[in-house]
Amino acid sequence: MFIDTHAHLFYPNFKDDLNDVLNRAKEEGIDNILIPATDIATSKEVIGLTGKYDFIYGAVGVHPHDSENWDKSWINELKELAAHNKIKAIGEIGLDYYYDFSPIEKQKEAFRDQIELAIELNLPIVVHTRESDDDIYEIIKSYKDTNLKAQFHCFSGDKEKAKRLLDRGHYISFTGNITFKKADELREVVKYIPLNKLMIETDSPFLTPVPHRGKRNEPAYVKLVGEQIAEIHNISLEDVGRVTSYNAFKFFGIGEIPKVSYTYQLNGNLYVNITNRCNADCYFCEREDEAVLKGYNLSMKKSEEPGAEKYIQEIGDPKNYNEIIFCGYGEPTIRWEVVKKISKYVKENGGVTRLNTDGHGNVINKKDITPEMKGIIDTVSVSLNSADPEQYSQIMGIDKKMFFEMKDFVEKVKQFVKNVVLTIVTVDNIDIEKARKFTEDELGVTFRERPYFE
Ligand code: NI
Repeated sequence: MFIDTHAHLFYPNFKDDLNDVLNRAKEEGIDNILIPATDIATSKEVIGLTGKYDFIYGAVGVHPHDSENWDKSWINELKELAAHNKIKAIGEIGLDYYYDFSPIEKQKEAFRDQIELAIELNLPIVVHTRESDDDIYEIIKSYKDTNLKAQFHCFSGDKEKAKRLLDRGHYISFTGNITFKKADELREVVKYIPLNKLMIETDSPFLTPVPHRGKRNEPAYVKLVGEQIAEIHNISLEDVGRVTSYNAFKFFGIGEIPKVSYTYQLNGNLYVNITNRCNADCYFCEREDEAVLKGYNLSMKKSEEPGAEKYIQEIGDPKNYNEIIFCGYGEPTIRWEVVKKISKYVKENGGVTRLNTDGHGNVINKKDITPEMKGIIDTVSVSLNSADPEQYSQIMGIDKKMFFEMKDFVEKVKQFVKNVVLTIVTVDNIDIEKARKFTEDELGVTFRERPYFE
């Protein structure tokens, strides 16, 4: 369920009980651990540990504290070590002006040389920053046209500092320090980081989270970091585990891609992932890139689309949710027969249904399906995109006549479904007022603006 992306298990204080430590981690649902090295010697130790335990991965690199004697020849050594199949990153590397154990120029040289190695090997980097944010940022920025991807480990900067890193596509990782009593400001920063950019770690044996503060830290406690994030982002611990593990999978290539989710929960609703197929090709749609939402993998080939029974089984008691929503990255009316079966089940069992659609269902099914919605669909939400047929066709990558098909669908469906809503995704310079007038005055249904997947 969780991945501890930063634990220095080669420290001497794990020497006597590492097996117990790892057993406790397993019991708490820690699936994988990544051990970053701090110099050449510990890089070798890390490789040793990854060979002993299948769920342990590593990073090799020289920490700023240990770069006083940085020598270009170390790059060749690191390159050899990084070739090991369980080494997933170069790290931890960076700049530390707080302790100042190595001269700044040496730190910078080591940092740059190792970044260039990571770029050459197409590996991500694990970055250590302490009172060096601006210099780190300048260096990171100078590699902007490369494949560099960085995890900012034990992040403790402010929102501005996080933003400029996020804007460059990098990831932010938090430790037990977010659980500390005096960490209110840092918790505000945690809240600001989007879920798809977050990772968790312990930095064992340091930074032990509350309530174990003062004792040695260990990977099992990464769950406490997860609990704190769940509270801050107001999501479940399971959500935190799924999202941060997926991010670690994407970033380091450890763990596994989550199985396809046929249904998924968000904000008290249950979403039914009916199909990824779509008759349109909206330019803002992420379907082709990465159909992952909050760590749920929604990417589904046609051959993987399940029948109604599978969905019904996952829904269980529909009264457990505010609404059962048919959506997904495709157009649900492409599988109208399946939607119909599920909707009947939901209504017979006291649930509430909503269909999110592009309003092309009658064309897709080559018949008027709106009368069939009577009594089984409570709300139909149609993507309007634009009240201008020309712009509509451009946004959706579809023939202009489909605008009028959508309009015709709305006029028909409002006779059979009590709530009909037209939505505008606020992604472009769209005439919102025109859309509102078209919806309310011309069609007589409800208008709503919505962001595309918050
Ligand atoms: Ni560390």
